[in-house]
Amino acid sequence: MKLKGKVAVVTGASRGIGKAIALKLAEEGAKVVVNYNSSEEEAQKVVNAILEIGGEGIAVKGNIADYNQSQQLIEKTLEEFQRVDILVNNAGITRDNLLLRMSEEDFDQVIDVNLKGYFNCTKAVIRPMLKNKKGKIINITSVIGITGNTGQSNYAAAKAGVIGFTKSLAKELGGKGINVNAVAPGFIQTDMTDKLPEEIKRKIGENIPLKTFGKPEDVAKLVVFLASSDSDYITGQIIGVDGGLAL
Ligand code: NAI
Repeated sequence: MKLKGKVAVVTGASRGIGKAIALKLAEEGAKVVVNYNSSEEEAQKVVNAILEIGGEGIAVKGNIADYNQSQQLIEKTLEEFQRVDILVNNAGITRDNLLLRMSEEDFDQVIDVNLKGYFNCTKAVIRPMLKNKKGKIINITSVIGITGNTGQSNYAAAKAGVIGFTKSLAKELGGKGINVNAVAPGFIQTDMTDKLPEEIKRKIGENIPLKTFGKPEDVAKLVVFLASSDSDYITGQIIGVDGGLAL
């Protein structure tokens, strides 16, 4: 087990990629805080799955777009497990539209969750990690933050922002024993991508060199690596899990 005794917080972990990450971290021995915003039942199911494999975990409600709720999420983690070693900033939303039709609210919401939310949770873990002189922060960005995409200017701006945030923090925190990396998934089969029209999915599929969509577990395996001591000399990197889509 690569993460025995470590404590991990995964935001937006009631389903999709976050859920797969929470389960994989637990399989490797980490105690996992499964953050959710509204889906309490789903989050509890993830915790139950962790308990079933002999792991430890709790579900903690919190809207990461809210600064105070993000602080409370980490306070609750410290109360329960006394430390936090790994933060996976994963929770994200889409509000796709062409700019002409995109409302100010759709732009703001996506930035608030997908970028400001990452700041909120990172800000909350930074003191406990500095105290431990060790920590792993893993930000889930997207291939769209690198390439851009029609109809996703809000999402692409937030995800590109996460890339700049990751690199800056890697420089700031490298001397303090804290590694900060980002994972850039391509097209992964989850609720987020299920809602795309079939025609768009077909077109994306054609452009993937590996000719298949990814699974949440493909992302989770890389996150485990970045959370473990195997990646101690890696920081500030943006690593694609995209079947070659960004090429
Ligand atoms: P999803 O929609 O299945 O899951 C997202 C989770 O985040 C949900 O559980 C949702 O309740 C939670 N969440 C949303 N807003 C929240 C908030 N304010 N506070 C707390 N939790 C909140 O999405 P998926 O596909 O699992 O995506 C996870 C991450 O991976 C996101 O950051 C997404 O942008 C990114 N990603 C996904 C890709 C894909 O193909 N599915 C591709 C590239 C990046």
